[in-house]
Parts: sequence; structure tokens; C-alpha cells
Amino acid sequence: MLFNLTEEHLMIQKAARDFANDVLKPGVIDRDEHQKFPTDEIKQMGDLGFMGMMVDPKYGGGGMDCVSYVLAMEEISKVDASCSVVMSVNNSLVCWGIEKFGTEEQKQKYLIRLAKGEIIGGFCLSEPEAGSDATSQKTTAIDKGDHYLVNGTKNWITNGNSASVFLVIAQTDTSKGHKGINALIIEKGAPGFVVGPKENKLGIRGSDTHSLMFTDVKVPKENRIGEDGFGFKFAMQVLSGGRIGIAAQALGIASGAYELALAYSKERKAFGKTINQHQIIQFKLADMATDIEASRLLCIKAAWMKDQHMNFDTASAMAKVFASKVAMQTTVEAVQIHGGYGFVKEYHVERLMRDAKITQIYEGTTEVQKIVISRALLA
Ligand code: CAA
Repeated sequence: MLFNLTEEHLMIQKAARDFANDVLKPGVIDRDEHQKFPTDEIKQMGDLGFMGMMVDPKYGGGGMDCVSYVLAMEEISKVDASCSVVMSVNNSLVCWGIEKFGTEEQKQKYLIRLAKGEIIGGFCLSEPEAGSDATSQKTTAIDKGDHYLVNGTKNWITNGNSASVFLVIAQTDTSKGHKGINALIIEKGAPGFVVGPKENKLGIRGSDTHSLMFTDVKVPKENRIGEDGFGFKFAMQVLSGGRIGIAAQALGIASGAYELALAYSKERKAFGKTINQHQIIQFKLADMATDIEASRLLCIKAAWMKDQHMNFDTASAMAKVFASKVAMQTTVEAVQIHGGYGFVKEYHVERLMRDAKITQIYEGTTEVQKIVISRALLA
């Protein structure tokens, strides 16, 4: 068993780290404070190949493995989790969903531009009354022969205003339960498709989260992904891969906060010595580093299993549940180590603490991950 990263992995990790520090860091506090979407930064991430990392080069992607994606997600998330959620949804949910399950025509029409970062994508499952309980959604896609007529509201949609293409999960036949659900590709600007107001969030404030309203939106049949009734299984499989990305985001938030706390502890003096010479701080740092290392191993294992075409559902749920818990604990401790400075924006750790919380909520709450894990254990 080898734990070494390859030369290529190290190169990707360094490229992401340099980009995050040189390009993302200077404006991150301003984007967070004023809820500014990182338009230029995402464009540059597309140019560098971060928006379609795992997509086959013949569809405009980087052809990289999922381990590379985790490494890049960690580095970007250390500095700007708002950019990394845009990257995560585009890579793991939208690009992977179309590449794995879409038709050749859908790949030519949408995937190439998504993978190159020329456009970005969104994923629409959650609704005002259906988040974790994904089969109870109310959005309908009524079969009208050569097209579907879509009606309903989707909530909490990442890239809600900035995306050009959305994967929308909707009910075609309620009598069939989850087998009556379809996944449709809907373009922004389709008549009857309205973007609702932007949410004013606790964290990841640079990303744009909106509700979306669909009123008699006509969607051609060729925009359905997979066979009729495949939409729920599509969503479950895509979200399972997406959870590796969010676990890696949580890992990055934790390691970003830890690195800041470590550096601060070497400078700040109290009681005649730097605070890193106090055992209470040393023990905090030891706990943080140990938890982060465990998170990293779970994330990389889940990614490696995906690369090996093994079933990674339980591994990705475990990585997400653990890494998101560690992100919360570590960021709280990082603020504590910074004392009063940790409570002000200039020191970055308060933002990381706010950003950490969403990793326990989106792409399946911690409770949903525990359902996935326990069902696998009991099966
Ligand atoms: N792969 C393939 N098939 C799967 C699957 C998977 N990972 N998971 C479930 N299925 C299949 C099951 O085998 C079953 O099929 P059969 O009936 O043919 O056997 C079918 O799907 C139904 O499965 P369940 O009975 O397990 O479904 P359930 O209703 O009990 O739900 C759940 C299980 C795990 C709670 C699921 O509803 C779930 O994951 N919910 C959370 C949804 C979620 O993550 N929402 C987040 C929104 S998206 C987001 O946040 C994006 C963003 O913008 C950042």
C-alpha cells in the first residue's frame, strides 16, 4: 500500500495552492463581506483547468483522477470556500453527471463548455419542503410527447444566478414513487424560468445561492438524462460523488484554519513566551493536525475508490460526515487560539468558521450521511 502522491498530484496541488494564495486571497474578505460572486476568479479557474478536472480531454476536461480533484479542492478551500463550492458543483455534480449518464449530443452541447469553464452549471434537487427527503419533491415534469412541461420551485441552488445550465430533478409520475422522477437539463433564459432573490447567508457568502421558479417551462425530451424514471438514481449517484468534493472542501477549510492558527501561535506572546510554548496550545494543535490527517485519508480513500470504479457510496458519506465535523471543531479552535483577533475579519479564521457549517448541511446533511452509512452496515 502506497501513501505517496505522484509527481502529477504534487504539481496539481502546488498549482492550486499558488493560485489560491496569489489570486483568491487578496479579495476574499471583500467578496465575503459584500457577497460578491467571484466572476473573474472562476473564469481564471476555468482557464487553469479547475472547472472540469476529471472530464475526458475529448470533452474539454483535464482527464485527471479524483485524487487530484480532492487535492485541488483542499487547496482552494483553504483560502476561499465560496470559489470551491462553485468548483465542486460544476465538477462533481454537473460535469460528472452529464459525462457519466448523458447522451453524446448532451456532451457536445453542454459538457465541453462546462468542463472548460466557459459556462458554469447548477444542480436543482432541494425544494421548500424537500431537502433530505428527496423523493417528496413537488416540482413536476409532465410528459407532453416531444417535451416536458416543468412547474415548481427549487431552493438553495448554488450558482443559482451565475449558472447557464441546470440539472433539474422533477416528478413525472407521482404514482411510481422514486421511479417516476426525471433529471432534465434546463438552460437559464428558458421562457417561464425565473431566478429568485439571492440568499443572505452565514458563510460561503461569495457564492450565489438562489431559489429558482419554473412556470410551464418547455424542456425538449432530448434534454432528459438517462431513461424515463432514472432521475432519482441519477441524483443519488451524482450526489455520492459530490460528497467527496464537499468532504474535500471541509478538509480544506479545516487545514486552512489550522495553518493560520499554527502561524499565529508562533508569533503571539503571552506570559513571557510565544503561545505555542504553552502546552494547552500545543495540545490543541496536535488534536487539530491529527483530525485533519484522518479527514484527508478518508477523502483520498473515497476518491481513490471512485478512480478504481469501486462502489464509493459509504466511503464518500463517511468522508463527508467526518471531515465536516472536523471542519467545525478545528475552525472553532483556530478562532480560540487567535483570541480577540480571531473574532475580526482580517485574520480569516472567523470566515472559515462560518464557512465550515454548510459542509454539514449541503449535498446531504450529516444525518443523511449517517442514513447512507448505517443502511450499508445493516444491509
Ligand atoms: N446509487 C444508486 N442508486 C441508489 C443510490 C446510489 N447512491 N442511493 C439510493 N439508490 C436507489 C436505491 O437502490 C433505490 O432503488 P430501488 O428501489 O430500485 O432498489 C432507490 O434509489 C431509492 O432509494 P432509497 O429507498 O434509499 O431512498 P430514500 O427515499 O430512502 O432516500 C436518502 C435515501 C439517502 C435519504 C436520499 O433521499 C438522500 O440522499 N437524500 C439527501 C438528498 C441531498 O443530498 N440533498 C442535497 C441537495 S443538492 C445540493 O445541496 C447541491 C448544492 O447546490 C450544493
